[in-house]
Amino acid sequence: MITFDFQKYQYQKLDNYDLEDIKVKFLEDNQMSGWYTLDKSELARIESTADRIRENCDVFLVIGIGGSYMGAKAVIDAMSPYFKKDTPEVLFAGYQLSSDYLKDLLDYLEDKEVIVNVISKSGTTLEPSITFEEVVKLLKKKYSQDYAKRVIATTSLVSGTLLEEAQKNGYECFAVPENIGGRFSVLSAVGLLPIAVAGYEIEDLFRGAEKAKENLQDCYYYTMLRHTLYQEGKVVESFDIYEPKLAFFAEWLKQLFGESQGKEGKAILPISTVNTRDLHSLGQYYQEGKDILFSTTIFAHSDRRIELEKYQKTLDQVNKIAMESVAQAHYEGHLPTNIIEMDEISMENLGYLIFFFEMSAMLGSYLLEVPYYDQPGVNGYKNILHQKIKE
Ligand code: PA5
Repeated sequence: MITFDFQKYQYQKLDNYDLEDIKVKFLEDNQMSGWYTLDKSELARIESTADRIRENCDVFLVIGIGGSYMGAKAVIDAMSPYFKKDTPEVLFAGYQLSSDYLKDLLDYLEDKEVIVNVISKSGTTLEPSITFEEVVKLLKKKYSQDYAKRVIATTSLVSGTLLEEAQKNGYECFAVPENIGGRFSVLSAVGLLPIAVAGYEIEDLFRGAEKAKENLQDCYYYTMLRHTLYQEGKVVESFDIYEPKLAFFAEWLKQLFGESQGKEGKAILPISTVNTRDLHSLGQYYQEGKDILFSTTIFAHSDRRIELEKYQKTLDQVNKIAMESVAQAHYEGHLPTNIIEMDEISMENLGYLIFFFEMSAMLGSYLLEVPYYDQPGVNGYKNILHQKIKE
């Protein structure tokens, strides 16, 4: 269960937040709206492929960048225990250009059974292409011509270099649907296959997403609230978490909102903190720095009881008291806080939040009058980089 409190530590109270008209317009526009349908037609194939992968490797390597890996990592990190990792180990690569990382990775994979999932809708993105090429060399060395059975490509099934390569070499393929953009793709094969391989019930993610879709009032309120705050000069939103397992969920949120809305000189800058750690660093700025911030705090309870005899409370209770104390102190220092509270970190709750925030990023983009599904600014660096590499 998830509860939303957009009132207690918030100065701004909204009477009108009905965004149903925008939803209707979005559905009429019908551009890149595939994520909204919550299509489950691929679930059975994803689950059976995941079972096969789980039986045949020690390491499942996901190669992708941006929307091609962030959703999967957000869910897997949130669900996984801190120390005892199950097999297969799900690793991510191709999201940077670090020689150390790639070299260490290739060394690590040398004596492991490996299956690779290369994910790129366009098939032309530099970081995953470079990584994939190096990993394929290793696979060929380890498995000779059988290597192709150990590669799964998730890509556009209409066109692209990765599709051509997959067809030429006989890699199994999953689709990045044409009408779903990268950062909205976690509930397609892009996110679902790695999550299923990690051992989590992808049906439960959908159940949560479907619940969020049926109950849009909180999403409308949040979307309208952040838009109103933005118009009042609160141009930075901090996603604050009190469970470090959610740190990458906050990274996913930053990508979702930053890439969807940061266009044409507009939009809120999304940042994040991991608390209570960052109260002892950025907390100072939040409390007394420039008045441009608001917080969206995502608090997750834990049922792992640790009794603190000295305080006659559980650690979970103390964590919540810390969160509320911060919200109160910030409120008194003119920094408002929205609180989203999960009774536990579960696939259903994560599915709910994924749909909730995807919907909000889309609706908020309509309010800002920017397209939510493209990222023309990213091409700026890509074009220069490709040119410079050729030189
Ligand atoms: O959200 C997006 O669309 C981007 O972050 C893309 O996912 C990212 O640029 C990777 O693109 P591709 O899947 O084409 O390699």
